[in-house]
Amino acid sequence: MKPLSNEKMKLTAHVYLGDSKEQLKRLPDDSVDLIVTSPPYADQRKSTYGGIHHDDYVEWFLPISAELLRVLKPTGTFVLNIKEKVVEGERSTYVMELILAMRKQGWLWTEEFIWHKKNCYPGKWPNRFRDAWERLLQFNKSRKFNMYQEEVMVPMGDWATSRLKNLSATDKIRDNSKVGSGFGKNISNWLERDKAYPTNVLHLATECSNKNHSAAFPEELPEWFIKLFTKPDDLILDPFMGSGTTLLVANRMWRNAIGIEVVPEYCEMVKEKLKLLEPPLFETKTKYEPAELKRRAAVR
Ligand SMILES: C[S@@+](CC[C@H](N)C(=O)[O-])C[C@H]1O[C@@H](n2cnc3c(N)ncnc32)[C@H](O)[C@@H]1O
Repeated sequence: MKPLSNEKMKLTAHVYLGDSKEQLKRLPDDSVDLIVTSPPYADQRKSTYGGIHHDDYVEWFLPISAELLRVLKPTGTFVLNIKEKVVEGERSTYVMELILAMRKQGWLWTEEFIWHKKNCYPGKWPNRFRDAWERLLQFNKSRKFNMYQEEVMVPMGDWATSRLKNLSATDKIRDNSKVGSGFGKNISNWLERDKAYPTNVLHLATECSNKNHSAAFPEELPEWFIKLFTKPDDLILDPFMGSGTTLLVANRMWRNAIGIEVVPEYCEMVKEKLKLLEPPLFETKTKYEPAELKRRAAVR
């Protein structure tokens, strides 16, 4: 999606040092278009940046999600990357409890995307297989939110040469939902098309090398949601910024960004990385039309 060619964009990146619960209070109501974040998971990475006990997780997160609800625009979206750990041979239920508590807080739990980690480590456990996916929970403030589905279309792929070429009689007429929901599909509508809408599964490799952070996002993860839910000049927030992947990708895609991080060294590292982003780099890395660009990066 292009910014208007004669538009004068002023791109910003702000990094706030401190606890999100407090720092979020600095942001105005209804000001953020998209929140993409991965908070510390319960009881994990204690040695690097602390971990919250799974029994206390919901209580810890709710004041933060209350602030996120306040700062998100009614048309905005919150994408929460999280995964429950195994406790005494069972999956912990804190993520499910968190979803229920956030619904009570006023959030709509619109969708759950799956991040399939294509390159997860091999291993053997006596009672389970290696964990190759994480949740990407989508929450909204209202049922009518901004979504630019055409921005994430994928090549039709094998469908064009296999199933679509051999349509059954049912496929050629509208296959109305058997549960009477009013939804149905007419697969023949997709003949002759070269692009389809994607599924809710993202197949992405983890990417921690060269990031100086043990739990960094692959860049494609925030990029995909930024394309889907925002347009240039919108504002993206990551309240658990880490190595700053969300901010750097947002700026590269002509979106403004705010990051909050409790570890000072990570804030300094992100500030340095933001300085390296120069306008010419944005223009060659993306397909957006050149526009007058001014950037400000600040650490508060
Ligand atoms: C899973 S990491 C995020 C990684 C990030 N997505 C990236 O691409 O690098 C979570 C981050 O949240 C930070 N953090 C933990 N508690 C915090 C809090 N209360 N407020 C702000 N940041 C916090 C940690 O220091 C850590 O860097």
